[in-house]
Amino acid sequence: MTQALIELSHLSFSWPGHPQLLDIPAFRLEPGQTLFLKGPSGSGKTTLLGLLGGVQKPDSGSIRLLGQELTALAAGARDRFRVDHTGYIFQQFNLLPFLSVRENVELPCHFSKLRARRAAQRHGSVEKAASTLLAHLGLTDPSLLGRRADALSIGQQQRVAAARALIGQPELVIADEPTSALDYDAREAFIRLLFAECREAGASLLFVSHDQSLAPLFDRHLSLAELNRAAAPCEV
Ligand SMILES: Nc1ncnc2c1ncn2[C@@H]1O[C@H](COP(=O)(O)OP(=O)(O)OP(=O)(O)O)[C@@H](O)[C@H]1O
Ligand SMILES: [Mg+2]
Repeated sequence: MTQALIELSHLSFSWPGHPQLLDIPAFRLEPGQTLFLKGPSGSGKTTLLGLLGGVQKPDSGSIRLLGQELTALAAGARDRFRVDHTGYIFQQFNLLPFLSVRENVELPCHFSKLRARRAAQRHGSVEKAASTLLAHLGLTDPSLLGRRADALSIGQQQRVAAARALIGQPELVIADEPTSALDYDAREAFIRLLFAECREAGASLLFVSHDQSLAPLFDRHLSLAELNRAAAPCEV
C-alpha cells in the first residue's frame, strides 16, 4: 500500500472535564484525494481538524501526516511541521484585519522556508505567487492587494483565506466549512476553483461541512459518525 497522506489509528480525544468526543479506530486520506466530511454542529469536526494540524494532542492513539507521527513531536516542531505541510481555511477565515490582502496571503511563507521556496520556484517570487493565486480564485483587481483585510466582503475574505492556504503548495489543504455564508451557486463555483488549485499543486483536500448538497462534488464523502465510535447514535 502507498503511504497515506493522513493516517489515524485508535485516536481518542476529550476536552478537559468533558466526556469522550472522538474515538476513531482508523482513517486514511490518500495523496491528491478530495474528501468531504460531514457532521452536525458540535459533533467534533473542527476538533478533529485541530488534531490533524497538531494544534490539539489526542489522549491516545496515532496521527501520521506524510508518515510523520505528530504525537511524537514537541509543540514547536509540530507547529513547524503544520505550517510546512498544511494550508488551513478556517471556519471564520481568521484573516489578520490590520494586514493587507497581500500580506495575509504571504503569511505562511514568513513562517515556512519550505513554502516560501516552493512559491518562488513555481511563480518566480512569493509576491507573484500571491497575486497569481488571488487572480486564479477570482480576485483580479490589483487594487485589492493593498487593501486591509477588514475592508473586504465575505466572499472576498473567503478567497483570500483560500489563497493563503494554497500558497507554497502544502500537501494538505484543510477547509473548515468555509462556504456557509455563500449561496449554492457561489459555493459550488468556489469549490471548483479550490479543486483546480489543489489538483495543480497535487494537494489533498479535506473539506468539512454540514451542507450535504456539496458532497457529490468530491472524490469521497464520509460522515464523521461513520468514523467516530463516540458519536451519539442519532448522528449516524
Ligand atoms: N476549546 C474547547 N474547550 C472545551 N470544549 C470545546 C472546545 N472547543 C469545542 N468544544 C466542544 O467540543 C464539541 C465539538 O465542537 P467542534 O467545534 O469540534 O464541533 P463542530 O462539529 O466543528 O461544530 P460546528 O459545525 O458548529 O462548527 C462541542 O460540544 C464543543 O462545545
Ligand atoms: Mg466547526
